[in-house]
Amino acid sequence: MRVLVTGGAGFIGSHTVLALAAAGHDPVIADNFSNSKPSVLPRIEELAGRPVTLHEVDLTDTAATDALFAAGGFDAVIHFAGFKAVGESVAKPALYYRNNIDSTLSVLDAMVKHGVSRFVFSSSATVYGEKAPVPYREDWEFLEATNPYGQTKVMIERILTDVAAVNEGWKVALLRYFNPVGAHASGRIGEDPNGIPNNLMPFVSQVAVGRRDRLTVFGDDYPTSDGTGERDYIHVVDLAAGHVAALDHLDAMATPARAFNLGTGTGTSVLQIVRAFEAASGRPIPYDVGPRRAGDLPTSYADATRAREELGWTAKLSIEDMCADSWRWQSNNPEGFPS
Ligand code: UFG
Repeated sequence: MRVLVTGGAGFIGSHTVLALAAAGHDPVIADNFSNSKPSVLPRIEELAGRPVTLHEVDLTDTAATDALFAAGGFDAVIHFAGFKAVGESVAKPALYYRNNIDSTLSVLDAMVKHGVSRFVFSSSATVYGEKAPVPYREDWEFLEATNPYGQTKVMIERILTDVAAVNEGWKVALLRYFNPVGAHASGRIGEDPNGIPNNLMPFVSQVAVGRRDRLTVFGDDYPTSDGTGERDYIHVVDLAAGHVAALDHLDAMATPARAFNLGTGTGTSVLQIVRAFEAASGRPIPYDVGPRRAGDLPTSYADATRAREELGWTAKLSIEDMCADSWRWQSNNPEGFPS
């Protein structure tokens, strides 16, 4: 399939472009580099062993998006593009609603107009909110999120479900990611956040490489094994394979839209990550314990049964793989991608 990958220059997008190419699909990237750099492209091409087309386009620009589809000949869309910083979304909610929802709507309009009916969406475990029981199951119906970023995922899942229901032949997979970490085993592409990382793994790897002095552990009084927060960390290469599995499954799906958790089904604590990263890198990760971070849950992990049974997909890589690959990327590219 010829697949438009929006946000394909980003962390998960770039790994998915490689997985698509390796599976014999033809990925085409659309990205405006709002949270990525053009220098990822030659590295994707080097690893894929073939040229990959990238269109620099802002998907909130409906005319530009329509032109992309008019010339594209796409069979499917994988939609990663969107703002994703939780804290920034609290400070600038209208920016998040505008960007994430407008861009999705202009892609959907263009798909309807140009007859593209396969869609894979980058959703998040954040849609389970605070009341869903852990492990999270896709049949939990009361989706909500505790911040505007997460609400855009809830709203877009709703929009996609409604659009798929009324457009003949549409198939939409809603992929709810848990905590994507790790990097391609080559060490050539990986996560390259702007500014101070919000997320644990990039922060830890920047401490290990000497870009930051010490980690703050956000609370050690949670009702978990060691008191620190537990998350379902998933290797980005496994996650990328989950997108290919979902894409290949779309035509066989019994309903127009369906949600799938992409996680391992296991929780790992902050301190377990710290120790695993120290072992993988051979560097100490000094840390202080600070207060809880507002909005954090004690524990989040997937029931990964549906993806296994229906997509034939399971996560294969371990916490050790995640830390070793994150470290290879970080140590080979201490400042991330070249500007
Ligand atoms: N943590 C620290 N110190 C840090 C950063 C994180 O102790 O400097 C802890 C957090 O308290 C949490 C764990 O590490 O217990 C993981 O935190 P992340 O920020 O890496 O991940 P979250 O689970 O909070 O957030 C992620 C995504 C969001 C998504 C959310 C729910 O970043 O986009 O999962 O799916 F909304």
